[in-house]
This record gives sequence, structure tokens and C-alpha cells, in this order.
Amino acid sequence: MSSQNEPKPVGPEYKSAAEKPTATISTKLSHPNVTILPQTPQLIALLTMIRDKKTQRADFIFYSNRIIRLLVEEGLNHLPTVEQAITTPVGRSYAGVKFEGKICGVSIMRAGEAMEQGLRDCCRSVRIGKILIQRDEETAKPKLFYDKLPTDIADRWVLLLDPMLATGGSALMAVDVLKGKGVPEEHILFLNLIASPEGAGNFAKLCPKVRVVTAFVDQGLDEKNYIVPGLGDFGDRYYTT
Ligand code: URA
Repeated sequence: MSSQNEPKPVGPEYKSAAEKPTATISTKLSHPNVTILPQTPQLIALLTMIRDKKTQRADFIFYSNRIIRLLVEEGLNHLPTVEQAITTPVGRSYAGVKFEGKICGVSIMRAGEAMEQGLRDCCRSVRIGKILIQRDEETAKPKLFYDKLPTDIADRWVLLLDPMLATGGSALMAVDVLKGKGVPEEHILFLNLIASPEGAGNFAKLCPKVRVVTAFVDQGLDEKNYIVPGLGDFGDRYYTT
């Protein structure tokens, strides 16, 4: 374990560093297009809930949804805005901004579908497409099985949704599919809960213009390409009753 995975004091300033609880916070990545959510006590507590193997499905869904909401809110900060001057009900002007351009979500099935509601909660009537990529049993490589995307996707900013960035194989293929439909790489934002350093590094190297927003970069991958310490199989924990 590298020293950056050692638990560190976390929490507000009313406790001294010596009194604060310690927790493992995200590995740092130097790629400019990878944004890691601030490692606040709130986020660490939410991640602790969903990582715990004893957490029951209803709580797993509830706490995952809270993290997804944080990811979507941060992701929206990476979309372009233009100036918007308005007048308030008391007759004063306010120099604000509004979002520029159209967006859509694209979930990588099935786990990415768990992130759709979080996007809908923030962006009313948002269009959502889907991509199904699975491991080809013959080649052991990711294979595209299905996609259903908005016909005007080339004119939209795309929020690509997949909770776990392990090797990055599915996400890289999804980006290829989107680019094949005319979406510029720089119009893709990839939201995910937990990334492996090797997956995030490889993805950022091969898709340097895609912005990645993640809640946490973990220690690594095990021999089955599960993220460690991770949270197990996200789709199984979210969907299996
Ligand atoms: N997908 C998961 O659900 N979990 C992992 O650890 C890796 C990929």
C-alpha cells in the first residue's frame, strides 16, 4: 500500500488533527481532465456506507443515489454557460449565467442505468440513451451488443454514466461509439463513483479530451479486475433483491 492510501485525519476544524477520525481518502491523479470530488467527511461517510458488505440493498441504493447526485451536480459545472442578465422581483438586476447548449445522458448498461434518475433529478426532461457492452466470451474483450442514442446526439453534450471505472475497457468502447455518431470527445463528460488508478489513467491517456468526474480513485484492481477495496459488483448490489 502506498503512503497516499494511509488513513488521514478528516473533518471540520472544531477538532484538532489529533482528535479527528482518520479515513482513507482518494488517490490523487495528475491528469487535468480528471476531477475527483472534494474528499469531505460527508462524501467519505457515504462511500463508507456503500463499500460496507453488511449494507443492505435499500441503504446501498439510498447512499449511492446521494453520491450520484453529487457527481451530477459537479459534472454540470463542466458544461459551458453564457451570461444571463435578469431582473429580480424587487426590481434589481442580477448578472447571472445560463447553460448553453443541449445535453443528454448515456448510460452504460446495466450498472450505469442506476445513475439515470440522479441526472433526471437535476435536468428536467433530459434525453437518455443507452449502450450495452459486454465481455465477448471468445476474445475476452469488451463487445458492443446494443445502442440506442438520441438521433441528434452529435449536437449534444453527453454525460456518460457508469458507476465503476475498472479497466476502462467499456468506457473506452462507449466513447468510440459516441465519436462514431459524431460527438466530439471534448463534449463528453464521464461520471463515475469509484475508479481504479490504472483504469482512470489509461482512460485519461487514450481520451485526453473527455472530462472524467469521479468520487474516488481507489487502490487498484484484483486478479478478477474488481476494484479494491471497491464495493463489489455495483449492479448486483443495486439491482439484486
Ligand atoms: N464493476 C463493478 O461493479 N465492480 C468492480 O469492482 C469493477 C467493475
